[in-house]
Amino acid sequence: MIARRRSFFKTAAAAGIAAFAGLRPLQAADAEVEVNPSQPGPEINPHVYGHFIEHLGGVLYDGIWVGRNSTIRHVDGIRKQFVDDMRRIGAPNLRWPGGCFADGYHWRDGIGAAGQRPRTYNYWENRMPQGLHAVEGNEFGIHEFMRLCRLVGAEPYLAANVGSGTPQEFHDWVSYCNAPAGTLSLADERATNGDKEPFNVKYWGVGNESWGCGGNMTGGEYATEYRKYIAQVPVYLRPFFVATGPRGHSADGDVGWTEGFFGGLQDVRGLGVRVDGFALHYYTDFRQTAEDGASFDARGWYAVLHKGAHIEQVINDHWGIMGKYDPQHRTKFVIDEWGNWYRGGTELGPEYILSQTITLRDAVHAAMTFDIFNRHAEKIEMANVAQTINCLHSLFAAVGDKYTRTPAYYTFEMYRPHMGGRLVPAKINLPEMTVPLLEGSARLPGLSGSASVRDKSLTVTLTNPSLQDGVVTRIRLSGGARLREVRASVLTHEDMRATNTFERPNEVGLAALAAQVSGDTATITIPTQAVVAVSLQLV
Ligand code: AHR
Repeated sequence: MIARRRSFFKTAAAAGIAAFAGLRPLQAADAEVEVNPSQPGPEINPHVYGHFIEHLGGVLYDGIWVGRNSTIRHVDGIRKQFVDDMRRIGAPNLRWPGGCFADGYHWRDGIGAAGQRPRTYNYWENRMPQGLHAVEGNEFGIHEFMRLCRLVGAEPYLAANVGSGTPQEFHDWVSYCNAPAGTLSLADERATNGDKEPFNVKYWGVGNESWGCGGNMTGGEYATEYRKYIAQVPVYLRPFFVATGPRGHSADGDVGWTEGFFGGLQDVRGLGVRVDGFALHYYTDFRQTAEDGASFDARGWYAVLHKGAHIEQVINDHWGIMGKYDPQHRTKFVIDEWGNWYRGGTELGPEYILSQTITLRDAVHAAMTFDIFNRHAEKIEMANVAQTINCLHSLFAAVGDKYTRTPAYYTFEMYRPHMGGRLVPAKINLPEMTVPLLEGSARLPGLSGSASVRDKSLTVTLTNPSLQDGVVTRIRLSGGARLREVRASVLTHEDMRATNTFERPNEVGLAALAAQVSGDTATITIPTQAVVAVSLQLV
């Protein structure tokens, strides 16, 4: 069986795009993916499949926190369906409380008796916030957040306030969270507020986007602040400090930030300054275009996937700079905000700011992103999608008692077996495609993917971005491995704009995909605009 790859011109015509110069017709081609499970490389940190939730629009309030008196199914005020789905994908961590919100957040506002907590300004926007969730009622604070983490089985990752806080406030938060019961007064206060046992928070972000909403600093200025914050921090368990990294989606990739920050840490007296994680942000940013989440053509489809794939270049560029200052690469990336960001217009409602329609395009983009993260496993400690519910690249939408998983949710489900697996080489043999963008054209891999192994289980994930042609793909094992059993699933839809709505929550979902097995080779046919996950059991 041969899947023909035809000229893209046909797709362009079908999508109502005028023909343009410079496109090279693709030749008929099948793909071969050669995977060598006998060469396991670095572990894919499970935290790469992590999450981000912020006090922003309907993310926390309504999305996650429905309140203890809600008629919506909940556990101690936390939406039950959200907990169940997050467990289902093995969500490894939750980053909270922001985002830009974090640099205006004072953790003490979120403790103590509910109903007696202050109402505060929601600093996400620098205008008086509008709408239902604009004034921060602080019903959801650190205790509620830790309850959520425990319910989901996720590790907490706290973003501390550098923009309007102090090192002392940060240190007190660390003690409040981590000091053993019966030691400091702060530990007693925690116990009085319901949690005798320490929270044992390991991941601490020292500010957020300090080049923007977190303080408008230069990399060098932030290096000075960072040093102050971590110089004498109380240590109960070895913390993992995450410094603010670059705005990777800037036109120049923001390499100046990385130079400025690491340069600013040089020649400092004392015991040395530890930077465990460096928080790269990369949004596939289409805010300045006419592109929205719901209505797009083939150009919009490819433009988003193409820009999303650029994150690989950004990772390599910054890793190179980091290596100049830290040749052993002790500092890893924490890509704690990534995702698609369209111009507005498809919000769930006016108060659900930054929510947008999530389609198959976003699911395919997430798959390509995860394959890139996997392939750079040695560089990445953690990554966090922005944001998990009712926001940019969300897995869920929820308004009151209405709830749905978006297409992007299924990418997380499909890629779950990579978590904690060891990366193995996967050589994909298929020519690149020439695709139209919003302006001009570009090259895109005909198929992209990654592979990992754990014990005798090999997982291969592949994405076919083509709107035109399916790909008959032979996954061939090298290194002497033999196959026992193969199962595959696929995420696709005949409409590239397909989405899940409250009325039709199952429009986009997973289906089984047939696989033929012969000796060391499994053959599948990957449909157009699709993500597949293949699980291969080795002898
Ligand atoms: O995720 C939305 C916002 O994007 C975050 O608050 C901020 O950190 C980033 O600019």
